[in-house]
Amino acid sequence: MSDKKIIIAIDGYSSSGKSTMARRLAAKIGYRYIDSGAMYRAVTLFALDNGIIAPDGTIDRYALDKALPSIKIDFRPMPDGSQHTLLNGHDVETEIRQLRVSDNVSPVAAIKEVRKALTALQRELGQEKGIVMDGRDIGTTVFPEAELKIFVNASAETRARRRFLEMCEKGDNVNYEEVLANVVRRDHIDETREESPLHRADDAIDLDNSVMTLDEQNDWLERQYKSALDKLQ
Ligand code: DC
Repeated sequence: MSDKKIIIAIDGYSSSGKSTMARRLAAKIGYRYIDSGAMYRAVTLFALDNGIIAPDGTIDRYALDKALPSIKIDFRPMPDGSQHTLLNGHDVETEIRQLRVSDNVSPVAAIKEVRKALTALQRELGQEKGIVMDGRDIGTTVFPEAELKIFVNASAETRARRRFLEMCEKGDNVNYEEVLANVVRRDHIDETREESPLHRADDAIDLDNSVMTLDEQNDWLERQYKSALDKLQ
């Protein structure tokens, strides 16, 4: 492909399929893929396991603030090309995808200090460019200068169905209504929080993938990448 490395920011709603397409593009063009949502999930897991989030969901803001510097998040590349999230050196990839974490992550992601710490880490990871990062505020806050910004959407029902099937395949015991309620609740918190709320960057390209196949999505994204490179010449 090209020698020129760019930053590709892919934002959108939960379970919109952005991670799948971001990961696949990164592998194809030899870029590093970073799932920024996994970082918020890892912080949430830490808080749950250390009694910082009470069983009723209340967050001890003071304890979380104090703990932040001791939470180390990393990614380990796997032989199949995927990446696993490490929390203080432990592989937590499976745990961070469980409903217990999904149910508590949005309020954690709404906390200013958490966002500040993770945004700094994300910027560090993007310093050398050649990166595809997905999340909610990558094109608006983390990398407003990204050369390519995509904003992905699909209906809440389509996204809940996808997440539900994914969880069933993994053997999780969930019901569809529960997953849909989680998606709707997270959309609301993500869109209305004060810090870096989810909204499309003015210069983002929209993608509604409700009725697209994975191949169609991947081809579409690769075309956007090529035209972003063309614009640099
Ligand atoms: O993409 P995901 O479902 O794994 O994201 C988990 C949560 O983290 C979700 O509530 C939104 C939040 N998040 C965020 O606020 N900013 C990001 N850049 C990525 C995720």
